[in-house]
Amino acid sequence: MPLLDVRNINVSYDDFHILKDVSLCVKMGEILAVIGANSAGKSTLLKLLSGLIQSDSGDIFFKSNPISGLDMHEIARLGIIQVPEGRRVFPFMTVFENLLVGSFMTKARQKRSETVEYVFNLFPPLKERRKQLAGTLSGGEQQMLAIARGLMALPVLLMLDEPSTGLAPIMVENIFKVIREIDKEGLAILLVEQNVQKSLSIAERGYVLEAGKIKLEGSGKALAADPYVKKAYLGL
Ligand SMILES: Nc1ncnc2c1ncn2[C@@H]1O[C@H](COP(=O)(O)OP(=O)(O)OP(=O)(O)O)[C@@H](O)[C@H]1O
Ligand SMILES: [Mg+2]
Repeated sequence: MPLLDVRNINVSYDDFHILKDVSLCVKMGEILAVIGANSAGKSTLLKLLSGLIQSDSGDIFFKSNPISGLDMHEIARLGIIQVPEGRRVFPFMTVFENLLVGSFMTKARQKRSETVEYVFNLFPPLKERRKQLAGTLSGGEQQMLAIARGLMALPVLLMLDEPSTGLAPIMVENIFKVIREIDKEGLAILLVEQNVQKSLSIAERGYVLEAGKIKLEGSGKALAADPYVKKAYLGL
């Protein structure tokens, strides 16, 4: 049984049909990569799964229960947590306050101090800077904070929207290393990325989203070796 099962989803903005009959699943504990070029519909997919927008048709099941139509709070309560594109930390709050916001739900609040310890271990620079205003952090540190804030909610499914975008190569390495580390805790990770090579190298499985349609799917390894993926996404 997949953790998340998305079946034949269609999403439109006004007259624009963005996601076209998209079906995919996320298995328990895996890292799943969704790769695609600009405007493919990747963020739209994550917004749909977070309950920020609704589909025109199709079904979404989480642990076999239908969740289409639930709002973002109900979705978050189930443990489906999104780290949005572009970080979006609260700039006028400290690092520590941002983390507390992430753990506002009852269950997460009860484990707050434990989880803070865990994310500080994962991202030591955040511990050093816990009293610093988030808006004054570097881009890399803000990305760490955005992921850490997501983890504070104790996700069952963590969805990351382009965590490596705009980061220097060494920070990109670090973020991918941490994603693998987080996955060892047993949660599932849905990773949306334009860094195709890196994301396929850490993902068990992946999907290629092209102009709102699933073009290919397979293991991370198989997709990285696929002639079409190589040509269209890896420039080889
Ligand atoms: N609120 C909106 N209203 C109208 N069109 C939208 C809206 N949000 C997104 N779109 C359109 O939907 C398409 C898919 O956008 P989306 O943000 O999902 O792409 P993406 O794959 O995440 O791209 P990127 O890699 O650049 O982040 C784009 O053509 C975009 O212009
Ligand atoms: Mg996007």
